[in-house]
Amino acid sequence: MSKSQIELYSNTSQVMNDAIDRIVVEIHNKKSRGEGAKKILLTGCGPQCGSTSVSIGLGISFAAAKWRTLIVDCDIRKTRDYKKLNEKTENGLSDFLLRDSVNEKEDFEEIVYPTNFENLSYIPCGKYAANPARLFCSGMMKQLLQYVNDNYDYVIFDFPSVAVAPDAQILFGEVDGIILISALDMVTKRQIRDAKHKVQPFADRYYGMIINRIDKDLYSKYIKGYNYYFVDKNGKQKLSGRANRRYQRTQKAAKKEGSQNEKTEE
Ligand SMILES: Nc1ncnc2c1ncn2[C@@H]1O[C@H](COP(=O)(O)OP(=O)(O)O)[C@@H](O)[C@H]1O
Ligand SMILES: [Mg+2]
Repeated sequence: MSKSQIELYSNTSQVMNDAIDRIVVEIHNKKSRGEGAKKILLTGCGPQCGSTSVSIGLGISFAAAKWRTLIVDCDIRKTRDYKKLNEKTENGLSDFLLRDSVNEKEDFEEIVYPTNFENLSYIPCGKYAANPARLFCSGMMKQLLQYVNDNYDYVIFDFPSVAVAPDAQILFGEVDGIILISALDMVTKRQIRDAKHKVQPFADRYYGMIINRIDKDLYSKYIKGYNYYFVDKNGKQKLSGRANRRYQRTQKAAKKEGSQNEKTEE
């Protein structure tokens, strides 16, 4: 049976994509320095912080750079009926983890779906399972980790928030990198403190915290000249004030020089 393609939504916000690219570069540099950085786990300090949105953004960005990338939807507490991305899928992560054994490569491939992005594959969450924590501790999970490690350049594990489930914590010791997601006005200081406390024993692989839902103006204040290379809807470059004034000056000078040359030729 041929599998339906998962339609991932790409982000059109240049600010968001710029921020995602910065994270991709950090992760890639870690990998270049031989620091593992292949299996990356994302979890929120609180629910709805944006772990799934950021996971998809990172996945698309890795895949665009031609790396074989896999996103694993590890939220098996929310059944696929509530997830748009998982609507047309048959088997997923939970179905695989519920099996007693696997033998062939096909057993793994059965749960890997293609997406609308080249080089980007997706493992859906699967059917509802009553005991996700136990499933993540299983030998089947260990085998899956080995398989993805051998077959992909980057694997992103998208987990529910550590504030609502302990599932992500089970894999803290098995991945190369842990990223916490928080969001302005969505989490309490206490939730942030608790999440950091939970990753503390794995400090060697804690990459840091992404603060999602930041106001565009706040972002531009923090990253000076962030709009230096942004283009508008018509593909026209939108230079920052200073860069624009410099550009206008050079344009004017070039024009002046051109008209003087024309005069001398006359
Ligand atoms: N930067 C953002 N700006 C605006 N809305 C966002 C942003 N990130 C996520 N969202 C929205 O917030 C909701 C929760 O995001 P999601 O990625 O599913 O979070 P989580 O996986 O942490 O529960 C979704 O409706 C998503 O579209
Ligand atoms: Mg999610």
